[in-house]
Amino acid sequence: MDSENRDRIETRLRYANDLGLGPFYLNRSSTQTQSFGAAAQASKVAQAPNVAPAPNASTVSAPSEERPEKTPEKRNAPSISASALPVPVAAISNRSASVVSAPAKPASASTSFMPLPSGLSLFDERIEGDSLGLIREAIGDNCTRCKLHKGRTKLVFGVGNPKAELVFVGEGPGRDEDLQGEPFVGRAGKLLTQMIEAMGLRREDVYICNVVKCRPPENRLPEKDEIITCSPFLMRQLAVIQPKVICCLGSCSAQTLLQTTQGISRFRGEWFDFRGSKLIATYHPAYLLRNPNAKGEVWKDLQKVMAVLGLQPKRK
Ligand code: URA
Repeated sequence: MDSENRDRIETRLRYANDLGLGPFYLNRSSTQTQSFGAAAQASKVAQAPNVAPAPNASTVSAPSEERPEKTPEKRNAPSISASALPVPVAAISNRSASVVSAPAKPASASTSFMPLPSGLSLFDERIEGDSLGLIREAIGDNCTRCKLHKGRTKLVFGVGNPKAELVFVGEGPGRDEDLQGEPFVGRAGKLLTQMIEAMGLRREDVYICNVVKCRPPENRLPEKDEIITCSPFLMRQLAVIQPKVICCLGSCSAQTLLQTTQGISRFRGEWFDFRGSKLIATYHPAYLLRNPNAKGEVWKDLQKVMAVLGLQPKRK
């Protein structure tokens, strides 16, 4: 995007915020259509502008399965403002022989999902000329946009192939990631690497990133304000890479991208359309470390991804 266009958009966003309209462009329920497939097509080129919208009342409860210290039900689920997050998408689409699409459970439980835009607007446009480098630059070296910066050692932007067909999205860096500045390098990361290799890929073939770029203290889940502040950068990363498949690791990333309150086990393994990419959610590797019995389920999900990407499992 040239600087004139950028200025124009920033000015309009500032103007809207000054008017108290906040993230009006993300919540156009009056034009909502129930036809998720068609709406998802319309949102194909959607790109969230890089502003941190104000939180509001509607909430999305977050996940449950990843962090070791709490059981799924007991965990204090943070909530994220549904309408304050970047452009919503939640559509089951593209059923084909190789893509197993279960019934659209989350989408049909309508109130849990954000309404979908029925058409494009200024705010659905991609940032022309955007790149991972520009996004990294935009975040800056000393980001203080949210409170996570206080405990941060290194910001963890993302790693891998900028043209990857497959992107894995986790929730946020842990201790090892915070020290090394690279996502998924701890125990859960080693398991993720094994999963990637079992799919016949190498770590450097895919792209790996998180919803928030700085480590939440004590490995807690990212909180609402942190997700709202940081997720626009994730949206930009996904818009630049335009992967064929996005694989959400755990409910934090799945709920953030799908804008749902539903627990991951309700829609794990099902296909969604996310701005032209296919999106699937599976359990977080950290959950698998504690629940090895769930590995079979995850492998089934990864096999669906492999079918879409035409991959053969690694030979032993
Ligand atoms: N867990 C995540 O969600 N992301 C990481 O980068 C590491 C652990």
